[in-house]
Amino acid sequence: MIFTVAIDGPAAAGKGTIGRALAARFGFAHLDTGLLYRAVGAKGGDAVAAARALAPADLQRGDLRSQEAGQAASRVAAIPEVRAALVTFQRNFARRPGGAVLDGRDIGTVICPEAEVKLYVTASAEVRAHRRWLEVGGDEAKVLAEVRERDARDMGRADAPLKPAAEALVLDTSELSIEAAIAAAALAVEARLD
Ligand code: DC
Repeated sequence: MIFTVAIDGPAAAGKGTIGRALAARFGFAHLDTGLLYRAVGAKGGDAVAAARALAPADLQRGDLRSQEAGQAASRVAAIPEVRAALVTFQRNFARRPGGAVLDGRDIGTVICPEAEVKLYVTASAEVRAHRRWLEVGGDEAKVLAEVRERDARDMGRADAPLKPAAEALVLDTSELSIEAAIAAAALAVEARLD
């Protein structure tokens, strides 16, 4: 069975949590595509060369989840040649037999427009920054400024900007609990599997 769930949305909206829950529930493979860009950004040097040479071991680094790695990822992700180098791996993952969930910024719009289910998971910048701050601590106003900076870059870039796919189900987790968001996402998957 070929079945893709594409989940897009800004940082800290809950994409990863929803993606992992769907993968576990339906037995699909899961790919956090942000990790690819984080690994490219963390390698430093020539980002295009780093993307072309990206290897599984690069995704195992312990420092990829930091705020700095997120900002570096967002910067290299605006380079079209970096994005191009990562397309085939993501497309093959999306259409692997047995079903796949991918979360990122351009999965439903560019990587897999034929995805059976497309979700756009979002929340207000304040809510997302608060969640991030609970994880990383420090100055909440600075975390909010970084969230806004990353949103602006990811939504404003020329190549594959973050936006909802035309037919995406939008889940705004500002008010919705994560359990309710997972339940709504699971219903959308079940409706297409039937
Ligand atoms: O989802 P994340 O926070 O780990 O993503 C880090 C950055 O990588 C994000 O700010 C933009 C970029 N990214 C992207 O451009 N396209 C994707 N499919 C996933 C992430």
